[in-house]
Amino acid sequence: MIYFENNTFYLQTEKTSYIMKLLSNGVLSHCYYGKKIPVEDISFYNFLGFRSFGPKTVIDGKEASVESLLHECSTFGRGVYRTPTVEVIGKEGTQVNDLFYSSHRIISGKPKLTDMPSLDAEVDGVQTLEVVLRDIRNEYEVTVFYSVFEQENIISRRHTVKNISEYDLRIEKAFSATLHFEHRDFDVITLPGSWARERQLERFALPHGKFVIDSCRGASSHQYNPFVALTSKNTDEHNGDAYGFSLIYSGNFQISAEADHFDVLQLQIGINPDTFSWNLKSGESFDTPEAIMTYSADGLNGMSQNLHNVCRNHLGKCANKQLKHPIVINCWEAMYFSLDEEKFLDFIESCSGMGIDTVVMDDGWFGQRYEDNSSLGDWFINREKFPNGFDRIIEACHKNGMKFGLWFEPEMICRKSRLYEMHPDWCIHNSSFEPLESRNQLTLDFSRREVIDNIYEQMHKILESNDISYIKWDMNRHIADAGSLSLDKASQGEFYHRYILGVYQLISRLTQSHPDIFFEGCSGGGGRFDFGILYYMPQIWTSDNSDAIDRLKIQYGTSLVYPCSSMTAHVSACPNHQTGRTTPFMTRGDVAQVCSFGYELNVKFLSDDEKQEIRAQISKHRELEALINQGDFYRLRSPFEGNNCSWQIVSADKSKSYVMFAFAVSHANPKPLHLKLCGLSENALYRVEQLDITVSGATLMNAGIPIYPPLQDYATLTFDINIV
Ligand code: DGJ
Repeated sequence: MIYFENNTFYLQTEKTSYIMKLLSNGVLSHCYYGKKIPVEDISFYNFLGFRSFGPKTVIDGKEASVESLLHECSTFGRGVYRTPTVEVIGKEGTQVNDLFYSSHRIISGKPKLTDMPSLDAEVDGVQTLEVVLRDIRNEYEVTVFYSVFEQENIISRRHTVKNISEYDLRIEKAFSATLHFEHRDFDVITLPGSWARERQLERFALPHGKFVIDSCRGASSHQYNPFVALTSKNTDEHNGDAYGFSLIYSGNFQISAEADHFDVLQLQIGINPDTFSWNLKSGESFDTPEAIMTYSADGLNGMSQNLHNVCRNHLGKCANKQLKHPIVINCWEAMYFSLDEEKFLDFIESCSGMGIDTVVMDDGWFGQRYEDNSSLGDWFINREKFPNGFDRIIEACHKNGMKFGLWFEPEMICRKSRLYEMHPDWCIHNSSFEPLESRNQLTLDFSRREVIDNIYEQMHKILESNDISYIKWDMNRHIADAGSLSLDKASQGEFYHRYILGVYQLISRLTQSHPDIFFEGCSGGGGRFDFGILYYMPQIWTSDNSDAIDRLKIQYGTSLVYPCSSMTAHVSACPNHQTGRTTPFMTRGDVAQVCSFGYELNVKFLSDDEKQEIRAQISKHRELEALINQGDFYRLRSPFEGNNCSWQIVSADKSKSYVMFAFAVSHANPKPLHLKLCGLSENALYRVEQLDITVSGATLMNAGIPIYPPLQDYATLTFDINIV
């Protein structure tokens, strides 16, 4: 997988190659990333040259401009004019620096990150290259880690910066990965969004200059997901070059693509340097989060499948083949804050016999929480609403063959709370002015150990004394007034990163002390949908928007990076609470079906027919579960490009497949179309139940199946395809 020959590093996955050269002046320089090529001498392949106005260096006895070198880990001030990978301010207070090769080693597996989520360390089929670079001032070293996941066609990257001097240094920038392409003939794809409109797909040509997406909100955010794809101009879902980059991190990130005057493109991904600095004492090290890179020649579907596979095979809790995602009914849209024991018992009773696994009690069960203006931080049961605690509730769940789940928002505090009365200084604030509220709440300072300990103890007590099998972990505002009383003046720049490390610490402690509890992530829907959270929580509430038609775009966009099993999707009541739209019950089920499935409504108010549909949807989900969790996902038709949307899942052995086709508004005199399927065996015969046909995979993939648009808005069609 990793080879070092003729001063060249070859990182080989099943279908890709990543190649770097160690230049004679000690610079580690990028050479090639893309479709697999053999390990052979490619010393002829370089872009070293002359750039007017640019300082020069000497490589193999020949002069070349420094900026024509493609530094794998760059610094500022010595002839590279692109954004540096690391910037460390040393004894003399200057930004100017240079990094040169010191040593390297190739190991099997990968070293573990201790305080942050990362891809699993002790696994077969993974090798790591560590290259140590030393700075020209002899003040620090950077270890560049490349871990090669052969089967998944993934290379992960990160850096460790170590202070090897006798005095204090300050890191101003530390990206997780920098890489180069010798041209900018790419389209960029990003996933911008907002609350209830997450991960909408945007594609555009790459101009000269610097293009940036980022978050400075304290969370990865609804606004931009930590992901970018670079594709060739003609790449579509099925064919063409597609590079994907993501970050295993839930805090402030930045991804930039910078094209220079020679069309050299530099991509950077990592912690957002605008809201970061870090003091590094003599002997200390700083680890960046881990970045993920992939390439596929099979278009965007190929790229997504690589990302899905690495998540399902190597990312913490997601990498558990035995994991069952429970079918959940959540009470939020059914009762909002107006829940109490009697209502909830009634709610549980109405779910009986439906096939639901877990009943989840959402916001409103704790402290004095009657609306959204109080009690966050008071994680004890409201005895006015639940005089018997959760005893009768849990008993009723068990009696009806279900388990009980509970909502928390651990990172928050309300001014109206006991916690605030006791610890008014625990919220994130600045001592000279009033902190800004959002949704009547302030954020707890999770960079402080005592704050995390308090929340841990409160949550642990509830979990220890009640049979709770599921936690929904919410986060409903972004950080303002950033800074911590626990940090000195010179260390305030560390706050945001320390905050997210604190969040990871609390989740780790809780998941370790309660290993059987299933955790679901949430942040006002999908505001923190990233690989960092997925490491601990194998599914995330995809969006607060549960409207089936809006969900087509949200789930389609999300699937670019994240596997279907990581997206929670629920059937909710109509008219939909977010859009006012009424869609058929079947459509709501079909759109949610390929995700981690559940309900967000009150069964009591449904007709007998709808209840029957719930039973049918759940038994269908049980049938599809393994396919959803392990199969290959293909996007067939994009809701961003037309009036319909279609996706397909195919089992790894190609014996089983499921297709969903959804229409938005109907039109008179509609044209039929042929939907070409993907991923089947050309020569095998398949039965398509709904069409009553048995034909070859080749026919299904080339001629396709006929789709006749129904004369009805918001309709769906589904197809079960099984090998005969
Ligand atoms: C936002 C979540 O996304 C909702 O599902 C719900 O849990 C509310 N918060 C509760 O306050």
